Amino acid sequence: FAIGVAVAGGGHHLDQEYPDPFKYDEEYRGVLAKHFNSVTPENHLKWDFVHPERNKYRFGPADAIVRFAQQNGQKVRGHTLLWHSQNPDWLTKGKFSRKELRNILKEHITKVVGRYRGKIDQWDVANEIFDDNGKLRTKENIWLKTFGPSIIADAFRWAHQADPKAKLFFNDYGAEGINKRSDAYLKLMKKLRKQGVPVHGFGVQGHLSLNYPFPSDMAKNLKRFSDAGFEVAVTEVDVRIPLNGGDASEGHLKKQADYYRRALEACLSVKRCNSFTLWGTTDKYSWVPVFFPDEGEATIFNDDFSPKPAYFALQETL
Ligand code: XIL
Repeated sequence: FAIGVAVAGGGHHLDQEYPDPFKYDEEYRGVLAKHFNSVTPENHLKWDFVHPERNKYRFGPADAIVRFAQQNGQKVRGHTLLWHSQNPDWLTKGKFSRKELRNILKEHITKVVGRYRGKIDQWDVANEIFDDNGKLRTKENIWLKTFGPSIIADAFRWAHQADPKAKLFFNDYGAEGINKRSDAYLKLMKKLRKQGVPVHGFGVQGHLSLNYPFPSDMAKNLKRFSDAGFEVAVTEVDVRIPLNGGDASEGHLKKQADYYRRALEACLSVKRCNSFTLWGTTDKYSWVPVFFPDEGEATIFNDDFSPKPAYFALQETL
């Protein structure tokens, strides 16, 4: 069973203050190596980072993370190949014919997945393709907008050709419980599998907030994917605390620990749930305060890497 973590850097929220913790923070690297047996580059394999110009790839940082993982006996999750967000301007604003655009995606997937063949064992091929109502995000997603749903099957096939052993996933937020979004994934995945498309797993991100009740049917939801023969992963867990400028109270931290524990329990209770990945190690480098202005302290380690109640809750549950 893999307990994973996102490796910070390459995103927008850290640029000024902490340019690249993985490179510059020795203590941070120690924590990654000590507590986790799987890593996910938080941004370094997204299009805007890894493919900043039409004919230029930037693999250095992802290579370094993969090397680090190998040295520490860790697995790597690859994130992500087809998404509506964090795409470079050359791609979204460029003028390409359909044929060119299709080749661009094929080339990208072949190159990126191929480079890490045998080294990255799970890929989030398609990320966040459905909205809350279980409708495809056709307006926002350049690939769906241009080609319709058939491009999804293409992407999985190309990824599979590039690394036949890698497990290929769909991944999304707000899909922890049983709802229109998770229903849509289960339906699509079964349909694709029937058509012979290499689709292996479903990842629920697990971006939770104390502002909302815990998705109490999470285990039930994961189980229905597992029962259908799919792998399941919890891929990006963090639990946001409403702060409104202040600090988390003891009560908040206890409740947060409880959310973490319940999410891990849900995964552990399901046969094919193979990993549980945290979206950030320490509050210091978390994306949460930047993206959710009134919330924060969402990870299991304080800024100084001291463990929070959530850390102990996960330890006890494992
Ligand atoms: C976030 C990163 O954590 C940030 O650094 C970046 O600026 C924006 O993206 N769902 C996903 C992740 O699939 O890729 C997102 O990561 C968080 C939501």
